[in-house]
Amino acid sequence: MRLPTIPDLGDLAGRRVLLRADLNVPLRGGEVTDDTRIREVVPTIRMLCEAGAEVTLCSHLGRPGGRPEVALGMAPVRRRLAELAPGVELLENLRFDPGEEAGDPALAERLVAGHDVFVNDAFAVSHRAHASVVGPPRLLPSAAGLLMLVEVAEILSLRTAPRRPFVVVLGGAKIADKLGVVRAVCELADTVLVGGAMCFTFLAATGHRIGDSLFDSDHLADCRALLDGGFPLHLPEDLVGLAPGGVLGDPAAGGAVRQFGSDLPDGWLGADIGPGTAAFFADTILDAGTVFWNGPLGAFEDPRFAAGTITVAEALAETRAHTVVGGGDSGAALTSMGLARSVSHLSTGGGASLELLEHGDLPGLAALRESAEHLSLPTHEVDERD
Ligand code: 3PG
Repeated sequence: MRLPTIPDLGDLAGRRVLLRADLNVPLRGGEVTDDTRIREVVPTIRMLCEAGAEVTLCSHLGRPGGRPEVALGMAPVRRRLAELAPGVELLENLRFDPGEEAGDPALAERLVAGHDVFVNDAFAVSHRAHASVVGPPRLLPSAAGLLMLVEVAEILSLRTAPRRPFVVVLGGAKIADKLGVVRAVCELADTVLVGGAMCFTFLAATGHRIGDSLFDSDHLADCRALLDGGFPLHLPEDLVGLAPGGVLGDPAAGGAVRQFGSDLPDGWLGADIGPGTAAFFADTILDAGTVFWNGPLGAFEDPRFAAGTITVAEALAETRAHTVVGGGDSGAALTSMGLARSVSHLSTGGGASLELLEHGDLPGLAALRESAEHLSLPTHEVDERD
C-alpha cells in the first residue's frame, strides 16, 4: 500500500498542522492510568515541531455519545501530554460533538479551519469513518504519521509476507465481531487457535455441550461452515468451568471451579481454556515463524480463569517468532504481566488491527490515499516492515 508521509508534505516551517491522534487512554480518578497511546504519538509531534510546524492535536476519549460529559474531558490527557510533548495544543474531546461519529463534513470544515495540513497518526480509530478521520484529507494536504506507518506495515506484512508457519490466536467474547477476521485468517494462516468466550459458539456448532457459556445462536451456521471448510482451525479440547451460582470476577461469591474436556454440564459456565489446550497453544506458538494474537483466552481479570491467557502471553514472550499483538484486552493482559516489551509489535489498535488484517485497508488510510491522488502529492510504499 502506498501512503503520503510527512516528508511528502514539503516544507512545514511556519505551517499549522492538525494532528489526529488516538489519545483514548484509560482514566481513573481524573488521572491517566496508561499513557502508552500518548507516548506513541510523541515521535510524530517531535518530527513536526522540529520541522518548524505549529501543532494542534485532536482526539476522542471514550464514548460520550455526542454530548459533553465532564468525566470524559481532555484535561487529564492534556496534562500528561504537556509533560511528554510541551508546547502543543489539544482540542476538546471530538465525540462531544454528534457530528464526529456521524462523519459530518461540517465538523471536518470547522476542525481544519486555521490549519494548513493534516496528519493522521490515529491508527487505532482509522477503521471508523468519523468526521476527524476521513473529513480533513478531503480538505487539506494530508499525510500518515510515524506511528500509523509502523502499525500499517506490521499488520499488512502479516497479510503479504508472514514468516511461516503463521499462527493466529483469537479469543475474546463476541463471535459476531470476530467472524470476518476468523474467515480472513483461515485463508492467510497455517494454524488458527480459537479460545475465549467466542469458542463456545464454535463448540456448540460441532455438537458439544456448552452449559451456560456465552453463545450466539445467530452465528452457529457461520461457525459450522468454517469448521466444515477444511481450514486449520483448532478449538479447545479442555476447558475450565465455573459452577452454577458462581460469579465471574468475584471469587468471594463462591462456586466451584473445575476442569472439563470439551463438554460442560448444564448450568456450568466455560471461563478459560484448560491446561492441555493452553500447552498445545503454547507449543504451537513456540514453533511458529510469525504469531498474531488478539483477545484473551479466558476471563483473565478473574485470577481463577487467567491461566490460559498467561500461558499464551508467556509463550509469545518466549518464542523466537515475529509476534504481533492487536491492542485491546490482549494488550492490557500483556501489559499487566509486564510482557508488553517482549513482543515484536504491540499495536495501539484492537478493532483497527483486526479490520486491517481482514480487509487490507481502512477508511482512514483510503482517505489519505485519495487526498494524495487528488492533490498529486507523492506517496510511499508502506507494506514492508523494516
Ligand atoms: C479504541 O480504543 O479501540 C479506539 O480508540 C476506538 O474507540 P471506539 O471503539 O470507541 O471507536
